[in-house]
Amino acid sequence: MTDFPAALPDIPLVEWASAINTRRSVRSYKGQRVDPAALAALHGFCTALPARSIARVAVLDDAPPDLFTGLVVGGYGRVTGAGSAFLVIGRSDADLVQETMGYLGEAALLEATAMGLGTCWVAGSFDRTVASRLVDLGPEEQVFAISPLGYAEEKPRRSEALLKAMVRAKHRRPVLEIAPGFDEEHWPAWAAEGVRLARIAPSAVNRQPWRFELDQGAVKVTVVKRGAEGSVSRLLDVGIAMLHFEVGARLMGASGVWQVLGSPDVALFRPIPR
Ligand SMILES: Cc1cc2nc3c(=O)[nH]c(=O)nc-3n(C[C@H](O)[C@H](O)[C@H](O)COP(=O)(O)O)c2cc1C
Repeated sequence: MTDFPAALPDIPLVEWASAINTRRSVRSYKGQRVDPAALAALHGFCTALPARSIARVAVLDDAPPDLFTGLVVGGYGRVTGAGSAFLVIGRSDADLVQETMGYLGEAALLEATAMGLGTCWVAGSFDRTVASRLVDLGPEEQVFAISPLGYAEEKPRRSEALLKAMVRAKHRRPVLEIAPGFDEEHWPAWAAEGVRLARIAPSAVNRQPWRFELDQGAVKVTVVKRGAEGSVSRLLDVGIAMLHFEVGARLMGASGVWQVLGSPDVALFRPIPR
């Protein structure tokens, strides 16, 4: 078993746990420019992220509106008023590229959320040609997802509210569905908090394709294989949930690392004995 290459040594646990609890996807922005100091801090944060040979996150200070195309013709669910953006970039030929992009991309989104900025993972409805013109891509690198960055409107526009209703954005699968056998009394507190924070993670069309099981003192995450996957890899979602899980586990005192497993298992989080 190998350690997950994107592991973050220092996570601001309290700030990110709070960001996880308050975050929601924002598609309606005020049209104000993002504070340059906040952008500079995000540039520094993203540059310092590990595993750059697999995936990275670029900050785009000025995001053109045609980057955001909306879900279907007519711009339904389109992002409006966002001045800046993250580009989530991966090497399409690298092992673990999807999980790594999910994990590192979510790190950037949580950092931005903790700074009071609105974000929204967008892996389907953006213009890939525009995106790839906005950044220098290395060999085999592609922009797999983006997120707007900006100040959220108090209320989402009507078309965003409709999109949220369509994907039931607030709905989350019951804990016993994502963690069969979950038992608050018998699961260690770190594992329970990890599952609680993973459960509220964002995912493409809110599909929540992650499953957790307790396995001899460690927690294993697997990916659901049933049904059509669509154009966005479920492993991207799982990478996001892995970071949320880790924040919960570490918050409850279990520092540990994800170890990579073979398909259909994804990874195992084993706390380091103290
Ligand atoms: C990998 C990924 C891809 C997504 N792609 C899109 C997208 O293309 N367009 C969009 O409007 N929302 C997109 N979303 C946002 C989801 O619809 C949203 O996270 C989900 O409905 C849960 O809502 P919440 O983020 O407000 O909790 C995506 C989310 C993830 C994690």
